[in-house]
Amino acid sequence: MKNVKAIIFDAYGTLFDVNSAAEKCKGKIGDKWESFANYWRTTQLEYTWLRSLMNRHKDFWQVTEDSLDKSMKAFKIDISMRSELLDLYKILSTFPEVKEVLNSLKEKNYKLAILSNGTPALLNQLVKSNNLDSIFDDIFSIEEVGIFKPSSKVYDIPIKKYQIQKNDVAFLSANTWDISGGGNYGYNTIWLNRNNNTFDNLDYKPQNQVKDLSELLDII
Ligand code: LAC
Repeated sequence: MKNVKAIIFDAYGTLFDVNSAAEKCKGKIGDKWESFANYWRTTQLEYTWLRSLMNRHKDFWQVTEDSLDKSMKAFKIDISMRSELLDLYKILSTFPEVKEVLNSLKEKNYKLAILSNGTPALLNQLVKSNNLDSIFDDIFSIEEVGIFKPSSKVYDIPIKKYQIQKNDVAFLSANTWDISGGGNYGYNTIWLNRNNNTFDNLDYKPQNQVKDLSELLDII
């Protein structure tokens, strides 16, 4: 992977901690905050896949709201929490090592980009609220192609923009299914496995696995 030209990052769950919104409300939600956060995330992802299959696209923010509404009902969380959770979701925190590693990569000669299900407005706000605006050459949103990951149309976006080959890319995601998607498409892959999880059986195994982003500097 030493010759890659572009390092492409997934956003939600990889750079930004999707559970951080519910975690900041754990005083009000109580002990179930983490199960609730996981349920919300799982429902949100299921809705992206189902909407793509049904050919009924809604953007990621609408899907995030719809999945939150189902999750709040399922966990009997008071409706008064809705706007607070959504506001926090717009400014999710990064995982602890993210900023330092991105700053080190910035000094090298790679294209650095995000490729995400998020809308351009959401992704820009996330990047700005975490002071990462100067890091990325591009923030690619699936809204450009109107279908969610893991459609190959999504993974095509940076290849077309940079006029490079699929194996010029190092693709980094904490989402196993996103690594399966990008890897089956032809990217070099690095699975960010923070919690010692089990990989998928989807005709693909990641080329590399790291526990946090700092290990990336040894691979690239
Ligand atoms: C994203 C989701 C998959 O950022 O985490 O695209």
